Amino acid sequence: MNNPLRSLSNIFKKKEDDFVGLDIGTSAIKAVQLKRKGGKAVLETYGSVALGPYASADVGALTNLENTTLGQAISDLLRESNVTTKTAAISIPSASSLVTVIKLPHTVSEKQFSSVVPLEARKYIPLPISEVSLDWWPMPRRETTEESALAPHEILVTAVHNEILSRYRELAKAASLRADFLEIEIFSNVRSIFGQELGSVLVIDWGASKTRAVVFKHGNVKSFHIINRGAVDLTNNLMHSMSMDFKKAEEIKHTVGLLGTGANRAVSDILRPGVDYILSEVAGVVFNYGKQYNETVNKVVLTGGGALLKGLQEHVAERLRTEVSLADPFAKTENPIFLSETLRSAGPEFSIATGLALRKLKEGV
Ligand SMILES: Nc1ncnc2c1ncn2[C@@H]1O[C@H](COP(=O)(O)OP(=O)(O)OP(=O)(O)O)[C@@H](O)[C@H]1O
Ligand SMILES: [Mg+2]
Repeated sequence: MNNPLRSLSNIFKKKEDDFVGLDIGTSAIKAVQLKRKGGKAVLETYGSVALGPYASADVGALTNLENTTLGQAISDLLRESNVTTKTAAISIPSASSLVTVIKLPHTVSEKQFSSVVPLEARKYIPLPISEVSLDWWPMPRRETTEESALAPHEILVTAVHNEILSRYRELAKAASLRADFLEIEIFSNVRSIFGQELGSVLVIDWGASKTRAVVFKHGNVKSFHIINRGAVDLTNNLMHSMSMDFKKAEEIKHTVGLLGTGANRAVSDILRPGVDYILSEVAGVVFNYGKQYNETVNKVVLTGGGALLKGLQEHVAERLRTEVSLADPFAKTENPIFLSETLRSAGPEFSIATGLALRKLKEGV
């Protein structure tokens, strides 16, 4: 693995200000180590490891590994990326959690939330409430007019099955990490992607197995949807249509993407319908958001490894008719200048891991 920060990370000696964020995806694990220095977040090192080979499969393949093997993969990644801290924050996949916005009548007072929210949340959670860890946050209200004072309270509710939490805690132990902080991945993303955005922003996390479409307003989650297709489906489409093995299809997907001309035009023509299927689902999320809130999404941010598909940014802009940018999480960290370009292009893959490390950095050990 190419790690241009390997030698730099040795310079730092003190450990208590160092934190590592770990994003455990289905195809790869990503790590970002940050250091707190003079009130700033300094990037010390980062890296990723493909999980396919741990399941005797190719790089880029989807995996469902046991904790012991995952723990091994994490240890390998930390060693190879020269991660020096044991203090970690780990993301929980949104597919293993429930994220929803519930509405309560304006007549319910804030004091009543703690008793009302768990009762109301039951309607959305298909599990006994005793088996899940429930969190909730009231969304800020704007009571500027008489009408808005009568609007229902909006409460963001998240639930994670206790077994999932135990599994992640055991995993941290298997990798000899102190990981007292677990966070659902979309919240890590928002921390590393957003500044002071006004209006409604759609984040598309284009992962290997799944694509998540989240609409944020003023940094708050307003709408969230998981699409059960991801970047690996594009590889599979190429593999089947061009009768090639997975490894070759993955390579061609990376080198050609949607920009193929001449002999490579066929590659892009095969990839496009797969991309458009996902985008049509995303368009549905945008449409429903518009209908529900009478708002328009005025910006799209692409993140996740799938966002790196050549030509995707322009294609999404054309399909969704909106301004589209690629996530740039390392814009929130202090980096060696000579790495600026490398970090900008690697950014979308590392936004969750960066967001996790930023949170630890803010809160301390
Ligand atoms: N340059 C590139 N061009 C096209 N696709 C790419 C590129 N780089 C990475 N990808 C694709 O991105 C996917 C991996 O993205 P990511 O690391 O976000 O997935 P993950 O976190 O493992 O998956 P998930 O979040 O669904 O569990 C792979 O399918 C890979 O082929
Ligand atoms: Mg992911």
